[in-house]
Amino acid sequence: MVRYTSSILLASLAATSVWAASSPPSCSSSSQCPEEYPCCSQYGQCGTGAYCLGGCDPLLSYSLDSCVAEPTCQSRTYKWDTLDNAALNTKYLGNASEYDWVYSGYPKLEDGNLLITMPNNTVGTLFANNHYVWYGKISGKVKSSRGAGVVTAFILLSDVKDEIDFEFVGSDLANVQTNYYWQGVLNYNNGAKDGVNGSDTFDDWHDYEIDWTEDAITWSVDGTVKRTLTKESTWNETAKLYQYPQTPSRMQLSLWPAGQASNAPGTIEWAGGEINWDSQDIQDKGYYYATFGEITVECYDAPNGTVSNGNQSYVFTTNDGLAQGVQITNNNTVLASFGATGLDMDLGSSDSSSNSTGSNSTVPENMGGSGSVPGSNGTSTGSGSSSSSTSTGFSQGGDSDSKSSAASSQTERVLNGSFFAALVAVVVLVTL
Ligand SMILES: *[C@@H]1O[C@H](CO)[C@@H](O)[C@H](O)[C@H]1NC(C)=O
Ligand SMILES: *[C@@H]1O[C@H](CO)[C@@H](O)[C@H](O)[C@H]1NC(C)=O
Ligand SMILES: *[C@@H]1O[C@H](CO)[C@@H](O)[C@H](O)[C@H]1NC(C)=O
Ligand SMILES: *[C@@H]1O[C@H](CO)[C@@H](O)[C@H](O)[C@H]1NC(C)=O
Ligand SMILES: *[C@@H]1O[C@H](CO)[C@@H](O)[C@H](O)[C@H]1NC(C)=O
Ligand SMILES: *[C@@H]1O[C@H](CO)[C@@H](O)[C@H](O)[C@H]1NC(C)=O
Ligand SMILES: *[C@@H]1O[C@H](CO)[C@@H](O)[C@H](O)[C@H]1NC(C)=O
Ligand SMILES: *[C@@H]1O[C@H](CO)[C@@H](O)[C@H](O)[C@H]1NC(C)=O
Ligand SMILES: *[C@@H]1O[C@H](CO)[C@@H](O)[C@H](O)[C@H]1NC(C)=O
Ligand SMILES: *[C@@H]1O[C@H](CO)[C@@H](O)[C@H](O)[C@H]1NC(C)=O
Ligand SMILES: *[C@@H]1O[C@H](CO)[C@@H](O)[C@H](O)[C@H]1NC(C)=O
Repeated sequence: MVRYTSSILLASLAATSVWAASSPPSCSSSSQCPEEYPCCSQYGQCGTGAYCLGGCDPLLSYSLDSCVAEPTCQSRTYKWDTLDNAALNTKYLGNASEYDWVYSGYPKLEDGNLLITMPNNTVGTLFANNHYVWYGKISGKVKSSRGAGVVTAFILLSDVKDEIDFEFVGSDLANVQTNYYWQGVLNYNNGAKDGVNGSDTFDDWHDYEIDWTEDAITWSVDGTVKRTLTKESTWNETAKLYQYPQTPSRMQLSLWPAGQASNAPGTIEWAGGEINWDSQDIQDKGYYYATFGEITVECYDAPNGTVSNGNQSYVFTTNDGLAQGVQITNNNTVLASFGATGLDMDLGSSDSSSNSTGSNSTVPENMGGSGSVPGSNGTSTGSGSSSSSTSTGFSQGGDSDSKSSAASSQTERVLNGSFFAALVAVVVLVTL
């Protein structure tokens, strides 16, 4: 069995070298994207267009300027009278003035609130703000979803996978979890759990606030500070650096099936067990849902000493993914087409000679998920209903048929025997 599965894995891995014939390759710290598909998406897939926008990891892409520059912070209060300022991820090309939000999945409005939903057997909804916060405070009125395996998230996530989280596990409505990651490195000591006043996080509105400065992060519920993390406390003496979230980050709201049967056992356990697709909410409404009321973003100043040549966009200029390498520019953030990239922003525009997005263009799909995931040793994708084998041989699911989801660089960094075994298991599952 072992030999058999290994040979399948090897065959799948071998297939990745002929990706050019079929689908774009995946990316990781040991294998950046090729020039034709230069952008490494949040899910570790190479592509063009939307792959070069929010979530595009400059460190894993073909070059630092493959990803499009990140729109700067906007202090704003968001209310939910309309979804006209939200674009589907298959439509958004980077104009954050036109669309404040980009989403995949199934958001809807109800009673002046935003519902993000997860219909039966889907990977749920990811609703992300298009303006990056580079230190600031976000606060939101939230009612979480409920049910084992159902996770609601209200987070800040950077393109190099610095992350600051509030997460609600649907089997534990008395608590909210707080967590953080630096460059996606999984550290199981970073998470914490805090009791929330009142009956539960599903029935009751509460105010959740993340206050993020250069020196400290506080997580507050209903105006009470529940947790403080100082930058000082994240010093790594070996690496001689602070493992502290420090790069421009997007606010993301999401609902996803962490308890999907195909996920890592550790993830399912963290999520309170396997998800029940025959639950009351699925039967009554047809979906799981989390409810968001007013959301406020207050921007703080960029760090002293930041190189600034404008006020429109943030760019990474160094390969270490640290704050010192981030500059503020007036670089354009808008792509002309889904074939365009940071290397050629105008490709496929109406005034370019060929009215075509080109055969290289890639279109995103709903991969769900929310940053790094406890118990998974990797980056989340929602793990949807349909799993299909791809040229990488490693699929975590999604809402449509052809997909190739790969683990992140961080997964590579912790790649070891047990993860390798899990990978083999996945390959067997999707191959049989
Ligand atoms: C920003 O614009 C400058 C000047 O045009 C260019 O050299 C640089 O590559 C751009 N950076 C990114 C990340 O797009
Ligand atoms: C972005 O959208 C705004 C508002 O719709 C529009 O005025 C502006 O021209 C657009 N910018 C680009 C580069 O398309
Ligand atoms: C819970 O609510 C009570 C009464 O409003 C308040 O005194 C207390 O500080 C709250 N506790 C927390 C942890 O927010
Ligand atoms: C500190 O840095 C070293 C060297 O990069 C690394 O091996 C170690 O895992 C880091 N410690 C933590 C807690 O992440
Ligand atoms: C959800 O879908 C599964 C099959 O995919 C089905 O067995 C189940 O009955 C559905 N749940 C509801 C409530 O319709
Ligand atoms: C940044 O500069 C301002 C004004 O010069 C100063 O008040 C502030 O303390 C500085 N912040 C840090 C973190 O050095
Ligand atoms: C950005 O810079 C331009 C030129 O200096 C200025 O006119 C504009 O007001 C600035 N915008 C913001 C939001 O600060
Ligand atoms: C390309 O051509 C089609 C029709 O041939 C037209 O509908 C579309 O708007 C054009 N796209 C651009 C970007 O010019
Ligand atoms: C595909 O990408 C290559 C390399 O960047 C480029 O030379 C070629 O023009 C692209 N083809 C199309 C049709 O866009
Ligand atoms: C590999 O997995 C084992 C558990 O199977 C764990 O103890 C170990 O720390 C992991 N190694 C790394 C580098 O993450
Ligand atoms: C992930 O890593 C942790 C600690 O390094 C280990 O205990 C766990 O077994 C790993 N999980 C998987 C699914 O490989």
